[in-house]
Amino acid sequence: MSNSIRARAHAKVNLHLGVGPLRNDGYHDLVSVFQSLSLSSIVEITPAGTPSASLVAGLRADAPGVPEDASNLAWKAAEALAQRSGETLEPITIALHKGIPVAGGMAGGSADAAATLKALNATLQRPLSQNVLLDIAAELGSDVPFTLLGETRVGTGRGEALAPLLSRGEYHWALAFAKQGLSTPEVFAKLDTMDREPHLSYEAVAQALLKADANALAAALHNDLQAAALSLRPELRKVIAMGERAGALRGIVSGSGPTCAFLCADADAAQEVAAELGVYYRTATATGPAPGATVLEGSTWSI
Ligand code: C5P
Repeated sequence: MSNSIRARAHAKVNLHLGVGPLRNDGYHDLVSVFQSLSLSSIVEITPAGTPSASLVAGLRADAPGVPEDASNLAWKAAEALAQRSGETLEPITIALHKGIPVAGGMAGGSADAAATLKALNATLQRPLSQNVLLDIAAELGSDVPFTLLGETRVGTGRGEALAPLLSRGEYHWALAFAKQGLSTPEVFAKLDTMDREPHLSYEAVAQALLKADANALAAALHNDLQAAALSLRPELRKVIAMGERAGALRGIVSGSGPTCAFLCADADAAQEVAAELGVYYRTATATGPAPGATVLEGSTWSI
């Protein structure tokens, strides 16, 4: 068995994303309903076995567009965890096996960071508590705390202040990925130039989730960032229309985009929508809710 520890990093969609005005610190107050999806990446941490000036001796990703240096959020997560733990850790290498699209509005980078926290924490002599991990996660990025916990939650503040939301049933999604990602800061900046009213109430989403009613959830889905993403990528309108024609209950831009997420009545419908859109785009199906970052069984670690 290889000597590495692996953790699964889950994608998210926003069932509701209400964006308040720009704050003085450059962030926006959000009211977000996150749902974790089965779509995932794997983070693998291995002892480097060689001396290194920094904790992370190297980082590799199997997808283009992922920084492989200290700017990668997974790298930052490892360093932040080591620092907070006070333990002296042996150098590691990090491999990211990306199943979540890069810059796709599905918190792929945040999920890698959350999975890195979980994985490396499991190797500590005195693992940190979940609350401390959440603290570190919030410093790393607005979506990192949610990807640590998963399931269905309401996020306020920058999105990092979380409360669980009751959700019944399983929801089936088809996802259409774009070749080129969108920059989250650019999408927020575009939104700031638009004349709009923030849509902060998520009551309709909460009611639909309580009733396990996919039709009601489809009608209630809302994303304030969608107008900005569509303005930067007008062709996403066609993607959404095509998915809805193929039988989706409703299509929306996921987070800051450009991934389009289609809520479907059941697994067969999701397959059908993914297959029809798959002629033109890379697609996947996924279910939600899913767990947060999880260390995989069978990981071994000895240094
Ligand atoms: O927190 P994170 O680093 O993931 O945020 C990336 C960018 O997204 C921020 O620099 C900011 O431009 C934008 N953002 C925002 N308001 C939020 C979350 C993110 O404006 N609540």
